[in-house]
Amino acid sequence: MKLGTLLLANNLILAPMLQVSTGPYRRFCRTFSKIGMVSVPMLYTKRLEKNPDTVLMDLHKIEDEKPISVQLIGSDLNALKSSIDFLESYKFDVLDINAGCPSKRAIKAQEGGYLLRDLSKLKSLINVGVKYSSRPVSLKIRIGFNSSKEIEKIVSIINNSGLEFLTVHGRTVRDRYNDSTLNLDAIKKIKSLLKIPVVGNGSIFNPKTAREFLEFTNVDALMIGRGSMGYPEIFNQIDQYLIDGIESIIENNTRKMKEYIGLYERCITDYLDNNFEIPYSFEKYKFMELRRNLIWLSKNIQGSTDLRIKISKTKNLEELDQIINYLN
Ligand SMILES: Cc1cc2nc3c(=O)[nH]c(=O)nc-3n(C[C@H](O)[C@H](O)[C@H](O)COP(=O)(O)O)c2cc1C
Repeated sequence: MKLGTLLLANNLILAPMLQVSTGPYRRFCRTFSKIGMVSVPMLYTKRLEKNPDTVLMDLHKIEDEKPISVQLIGSDLNALKSSIDFLESYKFDVLDINAGCPSKRAIKAQEGGYLLRDLSKLKSLINVGVKYSSRPVSLKIRIGFNSSKEIEKIVSIINNSGLEFLTVHGRTVRDRYNDSTLNLDAIKKIKSLLKIPVVGNGSIFNPKTAREFLEFTNVDALMIGRGSMGYPEIFNQIDQYLIDGIESIIENNTRKMKEYIGLYERCITDYLDNNFEIPYSFEKYKFMELRRNLIWLSKNIQGSTDLRIKISKTKNLEELDQIINYLN
């Protein structure tokens, strides 16, 4: 499918998720699913400007993952420009600007979701992005800061700005991640007013919600975040359902968990194969990646609460390996 000038294998995008959609995670998901595009989670422009070494890990081998988007968060125009200059030598497909992050840290720094409260700053950041980036630029927003009342204003900034597409998470910044607050009406309105393609995002956990989302809002593509945690096959499952209405069953059992964790290990090794220097030991990196994913992979197994508690209490790879080895 075409998303602006981008040619994607399908209309599904893996969301940027800090400390979740890491290099190994993106590889793991792509082992199971065809995914239109994957996203590198937010990089802080201030950090990139002052100490680019701290983000080398996040950009490691991204050229192997095309199509891939890299996201920047910040409020300083000069820092955005120098971050774009720094990124120039990397091979990625889209530069995304974060205008949706609801964290206290982002609001305090007047970046991310805060920009929906400061639309003139948002406009200036978009202008800098579009002017200096050699790649297409996209924007990721929520439907507003406290409410969706300012949609028209936001849309007027985006239309004719030179952005390639917009991703919108159907909640306000204030809503954070409260599942009951998903507002598809607001996304539908944004889509109807915008001249550029729109990617819809928020609480897509299965093929039916994906189809309903698409049909109701008329968006061009879907972005999936938490729905992929423990379900690397979700993209294929949705893709197939959108084509023929058949919902493949994703089985969940300990045998599968064990197999998947083996595959995840391979994704880690593949990612760090050339002894890339990481800020802490390889063992620690592997442990943190595996523990996190093991917890998600076990979430829908009957009676797995105890197992998850045990996994979350492990302190090193050895303890985690013991648990994995005892799975049957
Ligand atoms: C742990 C976590 C980290 C996230 N990090 C980012 C990020 O770096 N950049 C961003 O734009 N959104 C981030 N998000 C928001 C997601 O990209 C997405 O918009 C949100 O989770 C809603 O989609 P979902 O319901 O499919 O998860 C994060 C979400 C989670 C749960």
